Amino acid sequence: MKPTEKLYTDPTVPLDIRVEDLLSRMTVEEKVIQLNQYTLGTNDIENNKGVEVKNIPAEIGSLIYFGTEPELRNRMQRHAMENSRLGIPILFGYDAIHGFRTIFPIPLAQACSWNPALVEQGCSITAQETKQSGIDWTFSPMIDVSRDPRWGRVAEGYGEDPYANAIFGQAAVRGYQGKKLDDSISIAACLKHYVGYGASEAGRDYVYTEISRQTLWDTYLPPYEISLRSGAASLMSSFNNISGIPGSANHYTLTEILRNKWGFRGLVVSDWGAVLQLINQGVAKDLKEAGKLALNAGVDIDMMSHSYDKYLKELVAEKEVEPTVLDESVRRLLRLKFQLGLFENPYTPKTEASARFRRTASLQVAEELSAQSMVLLKNDGTLPLHAVKRLAVIGPMANNDHDMLGCWWGHGEDKDIHKLLDGITDELKKTEIRYAKGCDFLGEDESGFKEALQAAKWADVVVMCMGEKGNWSGENNSHADITLPQIQQRLMQKIHAIGKKVILVLANGRPLVLGSAVDMSNAILEMWQPGTDGASAVAGILSGRINPSGKLAMTFPYSQGQIPIYYNRRSSARSNQGFYKDMTSEPLYSFAHGLSYTHYSYGELSASKTTLSKGEKVKVSVSVTNDGEHDGMETVFLYVSDPYSRISRPVKELKRFDKRMIRKGETENFEFILDVNRDLGFVDDQGNLFVEAGEVKICIGDKKLSLEIK
Ligand code: NOJ
Repeated sequence: MKPTEKLYTDPTVPLDIRVEDLLSRMTVEEKVIQLNQYTLGTNDIENNKGVEVKNIPAEIGSLIYFGTEPELRNRMQRHAMENSRLGIPILFGYDAIHGFRTIFPIPLAQACSWNPALVEQGCSITAQETKQSGIDWTFSPMIDVSRDPRWGRVAEGYGEDPYANAIFGQAAVRGYQGKKLDDSISIAACLKHYVGYGASEAGRDYVYTEISRQTLWDTYLPPYEISLRSGAASLMSSFNNISGIPGSANHYTLTEILRNKWGFRGLVVSDWGAVLQLINQGVAKDLKEAGKLALNAGVDIDMMSHSYDKYLKELVAEKEVEPTVLDESVRRLLRLKFQLGLFENPYTPKTEASARFRRTASLQVAEELSAQSMVLLKNDGTLPLHAVKRLAVIGPMANNDHDMLGCWWGHGEDKDIHKLLDGITDELKKTEIRYAKGCDFLGEDESGFKEALQAAKWADVVVMCMGEKGNWSGENNSHADITLPQIQQRLMQKIHAIGKKVILVLANGRPLVLGSAVDMSNAILEMWQPGTDGASAVAGILSGRINPSGKLAMTFPYSQGQIPIYYNRRSSARSNQGFYKDMTSEPLYSFAHGLSYTHYSYGELSASKTTLSKGEKVKVSVSVTNDGEHDGMETVFLYVSDPYSRISRPVKELKRFDKRMIRKGETENFEFILDVNRDLGFVDDQGNLFVEAGEVKICIGDKKLSLEIK
């Protein structure tokens, strides 16, 4: 082909050559407009209301698409392909956070499954439903380490541990992106919110975060560094002000670390309005300066701030932004569009909604993921239920559909939701069931108490379905008070006084402070917000058909005054002092807590060698015996602690986990390969890796082992 011919339109030409060919043909105006993202369709994002852009230019780079059918997207795409000079397709994005139409449990719950393969399957179903509806790109997964349950967005991520966020982040990327980005059922993933957003002070959304360089490097960055290794196509720059420099204007995190140190070649999109908000954060005097800061820091796409479209051309002319910087951002966007196959297949084929959404196999995965996400927090033997003749099902969650979805429910529909009452009724066919709502989630109205008390008196066992409304967590949902609401506690007290066995089933998007509800319950099942298909999992756990296997990915505080409370604190000056004088310093339920109907015994730990050299690998093994009465799935966690090093390290750090079925009476051998440098070393406040000679302790279950690094 001659160079004047459009190489970029030829799919047989290598990708980078196509990108350069197209870039060389673009005017500054065409480049600038590519770097903006507007919305298309009726905005369903509650916290981010933008002024809809009328007459969207055919050259626009990206749109957030709120539709569930491809028609509108295809019409807009045709406009881009046919009415722009170069025919560059638009990239359509959307927040499919835990499902598109089939809604899976909230991500915090998914983490409690400790089953990355299942999480990956869920994400690939989401990718298929999303892609076939006209969307190429999801703003997920969220891999922000979160240690403050007052922050509503804890629901959207994988909890308090960096390694867990990394592993589930990788699983999500694999699920969304599939084998190849240009497959008809793959979408691009977006790791967010880079970086440290989970450290929002006092759990308040969008605010300042105080993060030392050490903590940045050893706590908040690792999930990103590791998830990028699974090929994540994009990343979102965060709202939070990281110790003075906002995430969307932070050259250190966005360029020095992400590009220069890690070599990330993918796309960076700002969070919604994050460029404009640099003015509020006091680092830009106006929108023009905000755009300059963001692009120069490394934000390629401006989501809804209208800074790049208004000022970027001027900034380039004034040499405030180098043309090479502009080109590099456009290059990244074009590369993703080529990778997604958008130039060859710009339009989404029409498929029947029934063939696209909620396929039988998808529902099975949703149900299984719900089941494995649920955590049995307490059980005095009341569960599983034995020959219960009369069961009362009480509470605002019992016959509730919408609140099962939690926050960010995509295009989940209430009519698809399996309600708890229905799930329990279907499961317990021989049990007579009576339902009473009793009270609402909040308020003072006790008029429903009477009916609830009557049902409880009549019953042998009472199931109380309580907790939070779905929209109490998620973005812009910080709560100063995370105790189980008073009205629900009062209803529990009245029912408890009757003296019947009480099973508390909790729906919530964050760890709660449960107060006296713990003592008033014989058993507590944390079902989280399980999505469209979680009710039969709850029923199965109640009946004993399912042996619960979830374990907490985030600590439940005993009291709000303990927050932040998480398992991997750095070692303290006095390990036997510094406790609260007015209450316990222990959490109510710690990280990794979760009961089962069976019992597991852990054997002694063994290692392939106990004296290790830098750079080598070591195998650590443990056998686990199911010596209880039921088959079960057990998650084995391997922690490392380093009692002495140049940096004060966490008391213990999760380095591996593995979940497996162990049949009753059987023993499984778990083996973990540790890399001395990566797993037993640590980084300093510049990201430099150190592996120091000395003792390192390995801990699995109640067993410990010492290793020595030479
Ligand atoms: C703001 C949220 O912080 C982010 O998570 C989301 O992806 C964008 N809005 C787009 O909706």
